Amino acid sequence: MSRTPGASAGPAVFILAAGEGTRMQSQLPKVLHKVLGRTLIEHVIDAANDLNPSQLVVVVGAHRELVEEVVSKVSPGAKIVVQEKRGGTGHAARIALESVKVSAGTPILILAGDIPLITSTTLQALLDTHVAEQNSATVLTAQIDDPEGYGRIVRDETDGILRIVEDRDATEIEREITEINSSVYVFHSTDLIDSLSKINNKNAQGEEYLTDAIGVLQSAGKRVEPVIVEDFIEILGVNDRFQLSECTALLRDRINLHWMKSGVTMIDPTTVWIDPTVSLSQDVVIYPEVALAGNTSIESGVVIGARTTLINCEVKSGASIRDSYCDGAQIGADATVGPFSYLRPGTVLEKGVKVGAYVEVKESQIGAGSKVPHLSYIGDTTIGVGTNIGAATVTVNYDGVEKHQTVIGDHVRIGSDTMLVAPLSIGDGAYTAAGSVITDDVPAGSMGVGRARQRNILGWVLRKRSGSDSARAAEKNPK
Ligand code: UD1
Ligand code: CA
Repeated sequence: MSRTPGASAGPAVFILAAGEGTRMQSQLPKVLHKVLGRTLIEHVIDAANDLNPSQLVVVVGAHRELVEEVVSKVSPGAKIVVQEKRGGTGHAARIALESVKVSAGTPILILAGDIPLITSTTLQALLDTHVAEQNSATVLTAQIDDPEGYGRIVRDETDGILRIVEDRDATEIEREITEINSSVYVFHSTDLIDSLSKINNKNAQGEEYLTDAIGVLQSAGKRVEPVIVEDFIEILGVNDRFQLSECTALLRDRINLHWMKSGVTMIDPTTVWIDPTVSLSQDVVIYPEVALAGNTSIESGVVIGARTTLINCEVKSGASIRDSYCDGAQIGADATVGPFSYLRPGTVLEKGVKVGAYVEVKESQIGAGSKVPHLSYIGDTTIGVGTNIGAATVTVNYDGVEKHQTVIGDHVRIGSDTMLVAPLSIGDGAYTAAGSVITDDVPAGSMGVGRARQRNILGWVLRKRSGSDSARAAEKNPK
């Protein structure tokens, strides 16, 4: 999880996130769109916080209350500054700078809030190079096949950076350049202050470009160094929904590769979506079309069958789950769930429990070895060990006003189609008759029967439906 900034003297970090994200076509600010369960801004903040920043400043603009809420949750020590009007990345960096006291010489890492795949390893390497080379500025760049839309890195004769030119301001020849600006930089603090005072907004967008600070420093004879990122996906920015989906797929691949290298089998990794917050163990097997989200943790030997979603679930070793949707459930060792089960928050299945087809469980604990194999609803219930719940049993937990508890003992046999009207307690070893509506407690070792006695009206079909197929069938074989 995120560390709190300020713990030791790392770099100052500025995250620029005030853009409107117009191209997202959304009511939601861009940086609050999610990639595998986490907002764009959280991905970036998490990577930055790994560097133990002395200060973390997030520049927000559009829908600032919403962004503020998320930022203060994931990084309570972060300072939020508001850019009232979009003035460009240079302007945003300047107001960040003005909001904090950065001691001279502290490196300042600046990055955009819309690059969710950036890693702390890359940020640390950039910072280390910057410090080791005593640069004025160090720019993270990338070689990409389709550089359209990005700022281009214009190199000088000695292969240093001459300047960065924005796509819209570039000449035909400059547009051919395939090395792009990632929008991740480290600046020497005083050089940043100086250079930002010298940029202007005479460009295609009428904005102050942070990228121009690089040209300013270069012209002043300062040391500016480009560092090419090893894996270009790290710097991909999200500007529209298509790029959001691309980044999500790339992060999926990165996460899946990590887990496969750690001993997880995936039958079709292109259809497996695992949040970065999930933890898996060796010899977990995952079938196609699976989503593992939130704080889900899965022990070794677990099989996750096709079309299963697990959100905030804890799954113990050897369990198997197929075609099911589980949210906030604990699934015990060697338990089996599904196909087509729905486990809701507060479900605890002990070792070896079976929950079968079309069964819904909520706020209930089911003891070791007990079974709810078919078509049932179990809510607000405690079930002991070795108990069997017959098909189509319902714990009637809601009287229209309040919820009530059902307590079922050990080695109980609930007959099929039993309505257990809560509050209710079924003693150890008790039985209920199929089709019963049980409204009173059943003592241990007893049989609860709660249904009308059957009567047969002999010959009814022959009299009332004479000439029908049924009547003819009965006449043919009257036994
Ligand atoms: C920027 C870079 C470009 C680079 C690209 C990489 C500039 C001028 N251009 O272009 O060289 O290749 O990123 O993705 O910096 N922001 C603010 N306030 C503003 C403007 C922007 O906070 O006034 C924030 C945005 O929220 C965003 C980041 O700065 O997180 C970059 O802005 P964006 O408009 O996305 O810049 P690009 O056109 O992508
Ligand atoms: Ca961008």
